[in-house]
Amino acid sequence: MKIGFIGVGNMAQAMIKGLIKAQKITSTDILVHSAHATTYEAVAKEYQLTPVADNATLVAEADIVFLAVKPYIVPQVLEETAAAFKAHKTVMVSVAAGLSLDKLAEQVGQSDLPILRIMPNVNVANQAGITAVVGNSQVTEDRLTAVKAILAQLGGVVEIGEKDFTTFSALAGSSPAFVYLFIDAMARAGVKHGLKKDAATEIAAQAVLGSAQNVLMSDDSPWDLVDQVSSPGGTTVAGLLAMEEAGLMTAVVKGIDATIAKDLENQERD
Ligand SMILES: NC(=O)c1ccc[n+]([C@@H]2O[C@H](COP(=O)([O-])OP(=O)(O)OC[C@H]3O[C@@H](n4cnc5c(N)ncnc54)[C@H](OP(=O)(O)O)[C@@H]3O)[C@@H](O)[C@H]2O)c1
Repeated sequence: MKIGFIGVGNMAQAMIKGLIKAQKITSTDILVHSAHATTYEAVAKEYQLTPVADNATLVAEADIVFLAVKPYIVPQVLEETAAAFKAHKTVMVSVAAGLSLDKLAEQVGQSDLPILRIMPNVNVANQAGITAVVGNSQVTEDRLTAVKAILAQLGGVVEIGEKDFTTFSALAGSSPAFVYLFIDAMARAGVKHGLKKDAATEIAAQAVLGSAQNVLMSDDSPWDLVDQVSSPGGTTVAGLLAMEEAGLMTAVVKGIDATIAKDLENQERD
């Protein structure tokens, strides 16, 4: 199976890095094209991918194509590639934030083309990402399974409705920044109590990583897990209550609310 990337910027390269690390796809089966030959040829050389001279040839030669250009570039790319998508039945997977499946079908000028929309987060580069996926009515179960199998090489995959993509973006796309802030706050507290910053950061990051793995591996809810580490009359419950008194949960929910509100405001403006 050949996988194409139109655009080799931040997100495409994060996905390509994850795919290369997963070692399930031969690197030369990944085809790339972007606006500048110097850019996509350099990326192809770095990861031993196959550079392709134009977008339409890439769509003709690949089985699945990820559209990894900025949303305002998508109409231009789809104009160039519409005939190739139609002739070769190539599966289109858009990474462009905020562009609906209907809008993509309208821009490519074909209502019967299988189109999927995905939203990966930056952690796909380490195969620890989470990607949301949704397909239009033309996407068969086989095609959806094929795309999900590629995305699963990059971390978790969740199928959600288009209406939930904005919420997903806040919870998965922006949240690495929130988690970095939490790790830094923990590390800073460690420094306050005498640890060196490097050591405190490593301790906090590893604690967050292990705890997240526990949540994913366990059938217990996070609340159950909180109870399991809170001994009666102990230190942890004292810390938890002090954090709650300072409004930790409200702060997190307000942060997600503000992220979603800003995204909706931007979508309205665009
Ligand atoms: N970055 C994120 O965290 C993130 C997360 C989720 C979704 N997304 C979505 O991913 C998409 C890409 O974002 P990004 O951050 O990767 O952008 P980016 O770093 O600016 O990369 C954009 C890429 O598009 C290429 N390009 C521009 N015009 C083109 C054309 N006519 N034909 C082919 N390629 C063209 C550019 O080529 P050159 O390099 O040659 O100039 C560049 O490689 C966006 O739609 C964004 O909404 C991004």
